[in-house]
Amino acid sequence: MSDQPIRLSEMISNLNDNSGGEAANADGTRDPAVIVLGSPVASAPGTTTNRRAFLARASTLSLALPGVAAIAACAPGGGGAGGSAAAGTADSLSALDLQNANSRLDTALVHSGTHEATTASGAAAPFRRYSPELPPLSDERTLRIHWRAQEVPVRISESTTVAGWTFEGDIPGPIVHCQEGDTVEFTLTNEGVVPHSMDFHAAQLDPKVAFRSVVQGDSVTFTFKPRWAGAFMYHCGTAPVLMHIGAGMYGAIIVSPRNPLPPAKEFVLVQSEFYLGDAVNGVRPFDYNKMLSTMPDFVAFNGRPNQYIDDPIRVSVGDRVRFWVVNCGPTHSCAFHVVGEQFDTMYLGAPPGTPIRGVQTFDVPAGGGMVFELDCDVPGEFPFVNHGFGHGQKGSIGFLLVE
Ligand code: CU
Ligand code: CU
Repeated sequence: MSDQPIRLSEMISNLNDNSGGEAANADGTRDPAVIVLGSPVASAPGTTTNRRAFLARASTLSLALPGVAAIAACAPGGGGAGGSAAAGTADSLSALDLQNANSRLDTALVHSGTHEATTASGAAAPFRRYSPELPPLSDERTLRIHWRAQEVPVRISESTTVAGWTFEGDIPGPIVHCQEGDTVEFTLTNEGVVPHSMDFHAAQLDPKVAFRSVVQGDSVTFTFKPRWAGAFMYHCGTAPVLMHIGAGMYGAIIVSPRNPLPPAKEFVLVQSEFYLGDAVNGVRPFDYNKMLSTMPDFVAFNGRPNQYIDDPIRVSVGDRVRFWVVNCGPTHSCAFHVVGEQFDTMYLGAPPGTPIRGVQTFDVPAGGGMVFELDCDVPGEFPFVNHGFGHGQKGSIGFLLVE
């Protein structure tokens, strides 16, 4: 157990007012690693009966809470200014729903287990360039994917390691490549301390069921068939979603159309933002208050600021290049542009439908994905950038080297 104070930047405050779970786990149990911090009433006697005010205040405190994982629960529908003191501790606890049956788990969490694990081994995490190449399609038309939610340190540059919440230990998670109409059988097993879940934007499923959260050691399985081609986001959908996405639980699922697009060198670029606190044992925790204020420390393609400046994406003169750009946010958009080039084709929706010709820059919104194509018939070093340069300057920039 570390004597380091647990930063309240790690406290997750979901300020939604109306999202309470309806019941505890079906068997009435809770994850033993989770200790109840208390309801608004219990934790702030005589000071407030307003849950929003309580959580807002709690998230700005600077407490040391060694060795506890805490949840401040809410009563069903009991939040907001109308929240009643009658919704006391017991009622609030019974309302705790770690299974997140309604996919909107309403919690405030502090979890030092994660923090210790990540800070203890952070210095050893090696830097590794995230490969931007689109993986080839499998010959199988059914993809069976079993991933783990893991809370592990991830080195995003030579000088920065973050206390990541991840799919399969990396930020972003692995690239999934499938084809329109394929069957995807997906299982997530939670090896982390806090509840996690999976939300594929390429799926059409009841999120309350498929995208529900699972606690440590549990798994969730669902199956879907992507109906549309395109570049889609996936992410953990456990509330507060901002925290789970902001801490690294996202990635890209690329759905190729059934009739193949023209041959090209295909790359996947996932833009995302990093909001970080000061390092503890060499590892920087994610800062929820910074996420709320939407002023990132870094913005990156594929999880490492400037990585393709240091080690460019290389193609040959005459190549056609296709960028599948997914913006995982959590908040800002990506004005995608290649300096010195033009996209002869971009797909706002599912390729090959409705191509747009002759595009200089196009905004990929947070939670969205688009496809950009160009012919590399001029040799040179072409920066691809988020042309919102307040973000580009923070790391969402790279080189396309045409040789
Ligand atoms: Cu999560
Ligand atoms: Cu989403």
